[in-house]
This record gives sequence, C-alpha cells and structure tokens, in this order.
Amino acid sequence: MGSISVNGVVVALLLFSGVVVMNAYQLSIGFYSTTCPTLQAVVLSVISNAFLTDPRIGASLMKFHFNDCFVQGCDASLLLNNTDAPTNNSSIRGLDVVNQIKTAVESVCPQTVSCADILALAAEVSSSLGGGPTWPVLLGRRDSLTAANTTLVSQNLPSPSFTLDQLKSSFAAQGLNTTDLVALSGAHTFGRARCSTFVDRLYNFSNSGNPDPTLNTTYLETLRQICPQNGTGDNVTNLDLTTPDTFDNNYYSNLGQQNGLLQSDQELVSTPGADTVDLVNTYSSDQNAFFNQFAASMIKMGNIGVLTGNQGEIRLQCNSVN
Ligand code: HEM
Ligand SMILES: *[C@@H]1O[C@H](CO)[C@@H](O)[C@H](O)[C@H]1NC(C)=O
Ligand SMILES: *[C@@H]1O[C@H](CO)[C@@H](O)[C@H](O)[C@H]1NC(C)=O
Ligand SMILES: *[C@@H]1O[C@H](CO)[C@@H](O)[C@H](O)[C@H]1NC(C)=O
Ligand SMILES: *[C@@H]1O[C@H](CO)[C@@H](O)[C@H](O)[C@H]1NC(C)=O
Ligand SMILES: *[C@@H]1O[C@H](CO)[C@@H](O)[C@H](O)[C@H]1NC(C)=O
Ligand SMILES: *[C@@H]1O[C@H](CO)[C@@H](O)[C@H](O)[C@H]1NC(C)=O
Ligand SMILES: *[C@@H]1O[C@H](CO)[C@@H](O)[C@H](O)[C@H]1NC(C)=O
Ligand SMILES: *[C@@H]1O[C@H](CO)[C@@H](O)[C@H](O)[C@H]1NC(C)=O
Repeated sequence: MGSISVNGVVVALLLFSGVVVMNAYQLSIGFYSTTCPTLQAVVLSVISNAFLTDPRIGASLMKFHFNDCFVQGCDASLLLNNTDAPTNNSSIRGLDVVNQIKTAVESVCPQTVSCADILALAAEVSSSLGGGPTWPVLLGRRDSLTAANTTLVSQNLPSPSFTLDQLKSSFAAQGLNTTDLVALSGAHTFGRARCSTFVDRLYNFSNSGNPDPTLNTTYLETLRQICPQNGTGDNVTNLDLTTPDTFDNNYYSNLGQQNGLLQSDQELVSTPGADTVDLVNTYSSDQNAFFNQFAASMIKMGNIGVLTGNQGEIRLQCNSVN
C-alpha cells in the first residue's frame, strides 16, 4: 500500500513538472488550436489584402520577425520603439499592417494571441505568398513588457558591411550556425534596401576611393544611377535584381555573378576560402534544398529567447504595452 501511494505521488509529481516545463519553455504548433482556430486564416487575409497595394509588404514583415528575434529574443520588443517607421524608406516598415493583423485577430480572439506570435506567423505567410516555402509555425510566445534596448539593437543586428567572420559571430551569438546564416540570408530574395546600406561599395569601398572589386561592373553602373555619390541615401532598390518580389533561389545565383546587393550578401561567396561557397552553390542549383533549410532555420530562429507561460503579457495593441 505504502509503496503504491509513494508511486502515485512520484507519478503525479512527474506529470505535474512535465506540464510546467511544457508551459514554461516550449512553443507548439497547436498552441491556439482551441483558443483561436481561425488565427492563420485571419493573418493570411490581412497580409493578402495589403499585398494588393504593396508588393514589398511580405519582405518587410519577414525582416521584422528576424530583427525582433535578434534583439532580446522573439518577444515583440522591437515593435515598441519604432517611431521612424513611415518615413525615409526605413528598414522597419510594416508596423501599420502588424497593427491591422492584431486588430483583426483581437476581434475574433480577444486577449489571446501575442504580437510576437503574429510576427512569426506573418513571416511564414509572407514566404508562402511570395512563392517560398511553408512550415509549421511554433506558437505560444508572450510579449515583452519593455521596449527593445537601443544599445542591443545596434549591437545585435548584423551590419550590411560585416565580413563573413563577423556575420558568423553575430549569428553564433544567437545560437545560429553557418548553415542557418547561408539559408536565412536567402530572405534577401525579395524586398528592398536603401542606398545608405550599400553606397560605400559604389564609390569608396573600405575607404579605398574605389568601388568594391567583388561587385559586378554592370550592376555597379545601374546602382550608381539609383544612388548618387552625395545623395541622401534614402532611395531604395531591389535586393534581388532578377526576381525582386518572388521568394526563390535566385539570390544565390546572383551571388555567383557578383550581383549581391549588400556586402554581407556577396561575402558568402567572395570571401577567399569561404566555407559557405558550397552551400551557396547547392542552394543556387537546388531550390528545394534551400526551401527545406530555410524553413528549418526560420523555426530555429523563431525559438530565440522566447517568453512563455506567465512571462510577459499578451499585448492588446502591438506597439504599446498594456
Ligand atoms: C545576414 C545578416 C543580415 C544583414 C547584414 C541584413 C541586412 C539588411 C539590410 C541592410 C537591409 C535593408 C534595410 C534598409 O534599407 O534599411 C535588409 C533588408 C531585408 N532583410 Fe536582411 N539582413 C540580414 C539577414 C536577414 C535575415 C536573417 C532575414 C530574414 C530571415 C532578412 C530579411 C530581410 C528582408 C526580407 C529585407 C527586405 C525588407 C523590406 O523590403 O522592407 N535579413 N537586410
Ligand atoms: C530622415 O532623414 C533625415 C535626413 O537624413 C533625418 O534628418 C531625419 O531625422 C530622418 N527622419 C526620420 C524620422 O528618421
Ligand atoms: C542595454 O544593454 C546594454 C548592453 O547589454 C546594457 O549595458 C545596458 O544596461 C542596457 N540598458 C538598459 C536600459 O537595460
Ligand atoms: C523608446 O523610445 C522612447 C521614446 O523615444 C524613449 O524614451 C525610450 O528610452 C526608448 N526605450 C528604449 C529601451 O530605447
Ligand atoms: C547547423 O545546425 C543544424 C541543426 O540546427 C545542423 O543540422 C547543421 O548540421 C549545422 N550546420 C553546421 C555547419 O554546423
Ligand atoms: C534617387 O534616384 C534617382 C534616379 O532614379 C536620382 O535621380 C535621384 O538623385 C536619387 N535621389 C537620391 C536622394 O538619392
Ligand atoms: C561628393 O562629396 C565629396 C566630398 O564631400 C566630393 O569630394 C565629391 O566630389 C562629391 N561628389 C559628387 C559627385 O558631387
Ligand atoms: C524612397 O525610395 C523611392 C525609390 O527609390 C524614392 O522614389 C523615394 O523618393 C524615397 N523616399 C524618400 C523619403 O527618400
Ligand atoms: C555580371 O552580371 C551579368 C548579368 O547581370 C552577367 O552576365 C555577368 O557574367 C556578370 N559578371 C561577372 C563577372 O560575374
């Protein structure tokens, strides 16, 4: 009798602690399956609608999720300090659409779905709408109670003028390896970048007084038309010069022709002795290989530093704490 009762307690404790661990640390695919069964459809509907007038919106939303995850984890902290969103062709655009999604989701499932999860779902929907891979989005993130620390924003987000070693370190600091770096960089298969993020390559690369020697000379001339030497840097151009709004593997074939837009893109093949060249070639010749790894790496990235269980909150509005 005694031993059965002891066993009963032991089993109960194990089950109990198992449940606590699941709630506290793990995201799951079906997190909202009973509390918000129409979530995916609502997100898809709002983004599809935004696409009709803004073919860049998917790229902007995907970048949002990446930037959020790299600064204090995927906790929507980046949505709180986003005052320069609408102007200057800023990299942080799409907050209005995030808010539209949140409003639509609140109307069907009040106080249930976090903004951090909305960013993760929006990234997947954006890939899918652009012709890219789909994947099961893990859910159950909670939203931060404080805004992203601006020092961490500048420390953690990789710079477009990073070398390959710096890119690897930046990703490694987030638990992402070289495979993830090469696959996730493929997100630059769509969207735009401002001149200010690559203009040094056109006129004065590394203060040499010359253009970047790893930049295709035909592309150089095109880019110089768009980005005059002493311009404001606020013009934008396509990250993928061949298929600007399609999520495909042309990003990798562009790199093979020295047609990567950012230094950080071209570094993946042009760094002497780079161990990333083989992967770039694999992805450029095999789109499925790219899509499969991209999906896996997005899931991995989406797990960075998440808040779960009773941590943080479910924001009622994505750009302010409750
Ligand atoms: C490898 C390091 C990376 C660097 C240095 C980098 C840098 C940049 C820069 C400078 C821009 C242009 C921003 C502007 O004009 O203000 C950009 C755009 C973009 N980035 Fe990255 N990025 C990196 C990785 C990623 C990752 C991992 C993703 C997503 C998985 C991503 C998705 C995007 C997208 C979709 C855009 C276009 C956004 C738009 O059109 O609004 N990037 N990135
Ligand atoms: C836009 O760019 C101008 C000039 O570079 C700068 O002075 C201004 O602060 C920027 N505005 C915002 C909202 O970032
Ligand atoms: C922001 O992050 C930096 C670097 O980790 C840290 O030194 C600083 O104390 C943080 N600031 C706030 C307000 O948390
Ligand atoms: C966020 O922006 C507000 C308003 O500009 C500022 O007071 C606050 O210090 C910022 N917070 C962080 C963490 O940077
Ligand atoms: C990167 O990590 C994944 C698992 O997340 C692993 O399958 C892959 O082999 C790793 N790649 C490298 C280059 O270490
Ligand atoms: C923007 O690009 C156009 C050419 O497409 C150019 O004439 C103009 O000077 C550029 N403006 C800035 C601010 O770079
Ligand atoms: C741009 O500015 C630099 C120095 O400020 C000057 O030397 C150069 O001639 C200018 N270039 C053009 C095309 O105006
Ligand atoms: C944003 O970029 C577009 C395309 O290059 C350009 O026409 C527009 O003037 C830019 N906006 C600002 C505020 O510089
Ligand atoms: C430059 O790009 C063009 C296509 O845009 C390509 O035909 C050419 O081979 C490229 N040059 C180099 C050196 O890769």
